[in-house]
This record gives sequence, C-alpha cells and structure tokens, in this order.
Amino acid sequence: MAFKSSSSYTDAARLVLQRCDQLGSYSEEADRRTRRYGTDAMRQVNEAVKGWMLAAGMQPRQDAIGNLVARYEAATPDAKTLVLGSHLDTVRDAGKYDGPLGVLVALACIERLAARGQRLPFAVELAAFADEEGLRFHTAYLGSSVFTGRLPPEALDLTDLDGVTLREAIRAFGGDPDALGIAAHQRDELLGYCEVHIEQGPLLEANDLPVGVVSGIQGQTRVAISMTGVAGHAGTVPMSLRHDALAAAAEYMVAVERTAQNTPELVATVGQLVVEPGASNVIPGRVDFSLDVRHPDDLVREKALADLRAEVQAIAERRGVSVAWQMVSDQPSLRCSPQLIQLQRDAVTAAGHPVLMVASGAGHDAVTMATLTDIAMFFVRCKGGVSHSPAESVALEDVAVAIEALERFILLLASGGDAT
Ligand code: GLV
Ligand code: MN
Ligand code: MN
Repeated sequence: MAFKSSSSYTDAARLVLQRCDQLGSYSEEADRRTRRYGTDAMRQVNEAVKGWMLAAGMQPRQDAIGNLVARYEAATPDAKTLVLGSHLDTVRDAGKYDGPLGVLVALACIERLAARGQRLPFAVELAAFADEEGLRFHTAYLGSSVFTGRLPPEALDLTDLDGVTLREAIRAFGGDPDALGIAAHQRDELLGYCEVHIEQGPLLEANDLPVGVVSGIQGQTRVAISMTGVAGHAGTVPMSLRHDALAAAAEYMVAVERTAQNTPELVATVGQLVVEPGASNVIPGRVDFSLDVRHPDDLVREKALADLRAEVQAIAERRGVSVAWQMVSDQPSLRCSPQLIQLQRDAVTAAGHPVLMVASGAGHDAVTMATLTDIAMFFVRCKGGVSHSPAESVALEDVAVAIEALERFILLLASGGDAT
C-alpha cells in the first residue's frame, strides 16, 4: 500500500496543530476559551473549517442545527459512507484539543487522500459537530443528535441562562428548527463512525504510548435540579426560621460526593450552580444546579441515581424546601464495534506501536452516532491526562501517529481488512 513517508505525517500533524491554535483563538470570552453552541465564536470556527474543507475539494454544508458536514466522494456513486468527526464547541475555559483535534486529524487524512487522488470504495464524510459539550443548554450531544435524527422535539424548548430557547438559538445560527428530525443517513448507507479524541486520562502516558484504541464509553446521566426555599433578609430572619435553598443544596452536594466516594468507579459532579436572587444580604430563595453521574455499569449508575434522588428529597423535606428533579440526558454505556476495533488494532500495529485498549470515562459524539451505526474511537495521549482545561496539551509526534493510524484504518477498511 503506497503510504507517504513518515515525515509527511509529521508535516500533516504540524498543520493540524497550527489549525488547533487558530481555532483555539476563537472565543466568546476575552480572557478564556469558551465556545457555546450558536455563538459568534462558533460561527468563526465553522468559517475557518469550511475554508479548509473547500480547499480539500469538498463541498461543505451546514445542516439544520449548524453541524458542518463535507463529503470526500467514493470511486463509484451509490457507495456506502464512513463518517469521521468530532465537535467544535467547548466547555468554559477550555483547551484547544478536546473536539477540534478529532475534526482536524480526520481532515488531514482526507487531504492526504485528495493529494494522492485516491478514491475509495466508500465515501468519507467529515462531520464537525456544533454542540457536544452542552454548555449552553446543559445537554450533551445536540449536534450529533440532529445528525442522527434523534433530537427529541421537546428539546427545542430548553432555555439558556439568558432565557433564549434552543429553537431561537438554532434560527439565529442559520439553522432550521423545523427540519431537525431528518437523519443525515439511513443505517444501511453507513459503514461506521470513527472519532479521534484526546484521551482525557492518564493511561497512554503511563504506558508510554502515542495512541490507544477505545473499547467502549461509560454511561452518563445529567439531571437539572432546583431547590426552592424562602428568600429573606440576611440580617433579620433568625436561623431557626430559615429555609435557605443554597444551604440545602450545599448539604446535598456533600452527600453526592460521599455517595460517589463510597461506590467503586462511580463519578458524580455538581458543576453548575445558579443562586437566586444572588445578593450577599439576601437568604438564597432558589438554587438551580446540575448533576452529572457516570459509571461503566448501567445498573450501578441507575441504583446510584435512585439513591441520589431519594437523598435530595430527604434533605429538602428536613429543611422545608421544595425540590424539582428533571432528567436532561440519560446515556447507557456502550461498546465499540468489535469488527472496527480489529481494523484499528491492525492499523496501530502496522504503524509500529503496541495496542492498548482504553475505556472512555468521557462522553463523545460517538455515543449518539452509535444509535445509527457502528462506532470506533482512537485516543491520543494528552499531557498529564488533563482536559476541560486550558492546560490541554498534545505532542506533535503523537498527532502524527494518530493521523497514520486513522489513515491505515481507513485504507484497511477499503481493502476489506487486508493489512498486506
Ligand atoms: C464531554 O466532554 C463529557 O464527557 O462531558
Ligand atoms: Mn469535552
Ligand atoms: Mn470532546
């Protein structure tokens, strides 16, 4: 198989990192990198990536929610499609690589195919998803949910902190909230979905490996919780007569932490908190906060959620506050495709590296894509396993290996798995 020399993987990796730097400069906040769905910063990244897709000879389109999608056509019409991708939105105060690296490594592979004039027996479609982190609407996977035609219509009524509905945000981003139910593909049109992503964990570094193959992704539930007490004067209402919503939420948060600490492998996080009315001399009357619960075993996660729901009720009753519990998303754990994993293993081996299988603690667009097609993921070593932080860092050499591994995977798929 005619691969270019390994130095060209390094050149491609250098370009990927330059592009990550450029995309990383687009932010809605001056002092930190934050790109929520539908913001001007997302417009800027879409424009930049659109330009690179066009230069690679593809015709990008923005779908009904603003995912950027471009196809590298097959050698023959009516061939099946392999989807590659990841997301371009970020968390608040993010790094440069969670999401964009996967889009840009995939683009690098398509550029290399295009430069060689090499057409495959299947089309390669690149999807740059407009929302994976769910920062704005406290959801996950809005972009891939639209790509797969699985966004529940009631999600359009979700509101952000400014009271803007998802429906309004989609329109403002040039999308069409009435066209969200149509999947980009039928199952039988697809060969699978493969995503490259930083590991966001320490295993590759500990094993001194540039890339790993993902075995599966742990289940995740997100809940929106409100506790409502009685606001009042901080100087005049005696402690015995208070129904302080924030104190109730604080007690609950400690209980959440204890539950996770006492349950092997369970992780539970309250990461967002809005206090009303939010003044230093007013007893908090209402608190809205998020709860994120994950475990590799769905039964353990479900049991923990039932316990955590009972706990919040008990604390609320004891303190005379009310509580509302709204399930925002509930994703079971899933396994990556054994067939695609075998090709990935062969690809990594052919690139000259031992294969390490890694389970993903983080969620990915692959979770939603699994409702439509077989999924596969490569992880790339990241410094200290750090992510969701401006300290995210990847090495040029590791990105070069990721490009080579993905390219070899694509070509193995094209040759029916024949590594020779
Ligand atoms: C996505 O990054 C998630 O796992 O929350
Ligand atoms: Mn992330
Ligand atoms: Mn991500």
